[in-house]
Amino acid sequence: MRSLLIGLMLVGSMLVAAACAAPMAVTRIAVDAPESSVISPKRQAELTMMVKHDCGSCHGLTLKGGLGKPLLRERMAALPTETLSALILGGVPGTAMPPWLGIVTPEEARWIAAGLRQGAFE
Ligand code: HEC
Repeated sequence: MRSLLIGLMLVGSMLVAAACAAPMAVTRIAVDAPESSVISPKRQAELTMMVKHDCGSCHGLTLKGGLGKPLLRERMAALPTETLSALILGGVPGTAMPPWLGIVTPEEARWIAAGLRQGAFE
């Protein structure tokens, strides 16, 4: 009887631990890029939020397009990472696409570019 009670308590605390760990797993995006090892997991979670909300405000919350063209993997993979990160840092003059230099570092822009090419934010 006593061991059953201890067992129940153990299962209970494991469930609580799993529930606490779950939101982390949702916000951690696996981008396969050299930058992933030097940008902190916390910053990667922030950048992911930024892509979904800020970039998404113009390119569509699911990146399927809006004011700006879609940023889906099939289009992004056709562009080299360096071209994409330069577009992100410098913006597109004459359009609503703002320059992100100062908000993200060149390294972070390459990480976002790599993630877009892999469809990591979709
Ligand atoms: C204020 C609106 C706005 C925001 C915010 C915005 N963009 Fe744009 N973006 C545009 C417009 C407009 C263009 C030019 C038209 C086009 O090519 O879609 C563009 C172009 C681009 C292009 C070139 C697309 C192509 O196929 O040539 C990329 C890549 C891009 N944006 C990525 C991003 C990323 C990443 C973010 C967030 C860090 C972002 N944009 C935020 C409006 C925006």
